[in-house]
Amino acid sequence: MSRFIVNSSKALSGEVCVSGSKNSALPILASCILTGGVSTIKNVPVLSDIEIMCTILSHLGCKINRVDDVITVDSSNVNCTAVPFELTGKIRASFLVAGPLLARFGRAEVSLPGGCTIGTRPVDLHLKGFSDLGAEHIIKDGSVSISCKELSGARICLDFPSVGATQNIIMAAVLTKGQTIIENCASEPEIVDLADFLNKCGANIKGAGTDKIVIDGTNSLKGCTHTIIPDRIEAGTLMVASAVTAGNVTLKNVNYSHLSSVISKLTEIGVCITEFGSDINIKCTMPVKTTSIKTMPFPGFPTDMQSQIAALFCFINGTSVITETIFENRFMYVPELIRMNADIKVDGRTAVINGKGGLVGAEVNATDLRAGAALVVAGLAAKGKTIINNADYLKRGYCNFEDKLKKLGADVIIEE
Ligand code: EPZ
Repeated sequence: MSRFIVNSSKALSGEVCVSGSKNSALPILASCILTGGVSTIKNVPVLSDIEIMCTILSHLGCKINRVDDVITVDSSNVNCTAVPFELTGKIRASFLVAGPLLARFGRAEVSLPGGCTIGTRPVDLHLKGFSDLGAEHIIKDGSVSISCKELSGARICLDFPSVGATQNIIMAAVLTKGQTIIENCASEPEIVDLADFLNKCGANIKGAGTDKIVIDGTNSLKGCTHTIIPDRIEAGTLMVASAVTAGNVTLKNVNYSHLSSVISKLTEIGVCITEFGSDINIKCTMPVKTTSIKTMPFPGFPTDMQSQIAALFCFINGTSVITETIFENRFMYVPELIRMNADIKVDGRTAVINGKGGLVGAEVNATDLRAGAALVVAGLAAKGKTIINNADYLKRGYCNFEDKLKKLGADVIIEE
């Protein structure tokens, strides 16, 4: 596993371009199965999770070609509807091929992806949606087999606005006869991007971005060309990295409306954020003040930014409070920050952070993708050197992270 070495850095400054969204590219790549044709997906970040999704699609019979940030998927010869654990176990998003396979072939056999450090990551809401559309499923030996002679439109109400379940049900419903209504669905920008892609392919999806989506099934879909939206979590992470070093950074290719809750919180604590079209400038000079955060489904504060902002709070004198409402175990980074002299107390879903003049560099372990990002943020402003082990986690979700930070003046290096 690689190590990310972060030395105490001066104020970050300059500009970087934000890459395409990992969490939008993954479902859109999976949805290419539906078209039986050729799609060209642009602005796809170079990440290990994307590589794994491409491996899964190739396993199913898709022809994949990648040139820089453009991936072409030819799904005309998909000849397999089963995905083994050695593939699904690597990324939870692998389960997103279930909906497209079910829609196109009437069956799918996908190994359950299993949990990860942040939670058990069940797929019961996905399976309930498939059942509402008329599919049956059997879970045996860690795999779920889903089948249906013919799906039919249904009214589906999700117990929780699950991003993945919303995406999987959309993909299962677009070729389903009749009308499907999904209520209490997720409204994240990645849902809207998936719907935009599928509508370009000939689908009829309305309401993406709200809590009610209406899908009128069509007979077939054709491949198309689509550009992935910017990665709002990468952008938010770079904004926090700028703030923690009292920097002055401009991010290019950012969608301000995808980050309103993060921008609102950073502004509240005293960070100066200005929008210039698709660019955002983050300037942090005055001493910032404490606040409280509660993670919520979009448009609330994103859980994927929780650990990064906690790292920033360690440098703000006073008490800040974070409540995590989405995942059951998303404070794994706390013991690592405590090794850097942080004063954080976790009680259930709440972390109380007592900032007292900063942190000291140490050797720490990344426990998941966003925890790793939090440790990088902490290391930028901590005194001395921070060595982050298990840095391969960062390659899962941050494209050219080291280069982007270096371009802004950070003293970082990846040791393979
Ligand atoms: C997506 O995961 C993202 N991943 C996650 O980003 C993100 O944290 C999450 O949405 C929430 O925004 C991708 O898009 C690839 P959920 P997903 O279904 O779809 C429970 C990152 O760091 N749930 O909205 O798996 C679940 O346990 C990753 O980029 C069920 O109970 O998230 C969790 O508590 C981490 N049953 C909550 O819902 C289900 O069937 C939210 O999960 C599905 C989910």
